Amino acid sequence: MMKTPFQLAVAAALLSPFGVSAWGELGHETIGYVIMPALPFISATTLSSVQSSLGSTYNFSLGPAAPWADTVRAEAAYAFTAPYHFVDAEDSPPSSCSVSISRDCGASGCIISAIQNYTKRVQETSLSKTQRQEALKFITHFIGDIGQPLHVEAYEVGGNDIKATCSGKSTNLHATWDTGMITKNLDANYNSDPQVWAAAIAKEIKSGTYASVAASWVSCISASELSSTSCPLVWAEEANSFDCTDVFNFTTGQDLCDSDYYDAAIPIIDEQVAKQGYRLAKWLDAIYD
Ligand SMILES: *[C@@H]1O[C@H](CO)[C@@H](O)[C@H](O)[C@H]1NC(C)=O
Ligand SMILES: *[C@@H]1O[C@H](CO)[C@@H](O)[C@H](O)[C@H]1NC(C)=O
Ligand SMILES: *[C@@H]1O[C@H](CO)[C@@H](O)[C@H](O)[C@H]1NC(C)=O
Repeated sequence: MMKTPFQLAVAAALLSPFGVSAWGELGHETIGYVIMPALPFISATTLSSVQSSLGSTYNFSLGPAAPWADTVRAEAAYAFTAPYHFVDAEDSPPSSCSVSISRDCGASGCIISAIQNYTKRVQETSLSKTQRQEALKFITHFIGDIGQPLHVEAYEVGGNDIKATCSGKSTNLHATWDTGMITKNLDANYNSDPQVWAAAIAKEIKSGTYASVAASWVSCISASELSSTSCPLVWAEEANSFDCTDVFNFTTGQDLCDSDYYDAAIPIIDEQVAKQGYRLAKWLDAIYD
């Protein structure tokens, strides 16, 4: 399974505070981030806990650590984690959208129960440093995935079984949302760099389009909610709702990355990545701070 830009971007939304001391090396563009740190969304206490958990293996950053869950899922020892990347919402898009834990989160678990499980484990001091680092990497990955509308949809295996065309290439609908449209958008507008995109998103959260709504994105997060599935369920329901508006709204043969479909999807992707990055920050603060 390839690492997905969607996932990387959510993690990159947290990169800036970790890399502040070295931004200068990355050129003029990033010097701007040093002067105006893009994403001061996690506390100093959280930052130091996260850095200490990840260590030099991950360059003290959630960015390189975020795709780990995708790389291990193909290994036999981690096969049990495959269902944790999604929830198979058995709804009926585009006419009826919903997520139900009792209906959709099977005996082998789903993304909602996985966020709950690894949130508990990351705090368990009886576990080894490695086990707690794994828990942090899973949380980071799954809080990203849960914002992708086709990670919260059972229909046609989350769109994997729907053929699609993106920028002239044959692919499937799921991959178009995970990778295709984001790659095109990053190439066209963000120097093909998730960190540049993250900085743009962070600015919108701090003082732009999202400034007035960001607080509502994290309103369910508190220390007492960490043990519950209620916040992850809210996030899953929000992402799933797009399966009844834009996600399946195309005609056979349409190039999804070169049409109205793309124009409608990009603002949704931007907002979902912004939300999940900001939620990850506040979730980690609730855990560590
Ligand atoms: C590690 O992080 C530093 C500072 O954030 C950054 O300058 C450097 O490029 C990173 N190294 C790699 C291999 O990503
Ligand atoms: C929680 O995570 C551990 C470690 O990956 C796993 O062994 C266990 O089955 C998980 N439990 C649930 C309920 O998901
Ligand atoms: C579906 O796509 C068409 C064509 O782009 C657009 O006019 C319509 O508003 C879309 N419907 C929804 C529910 O987004």
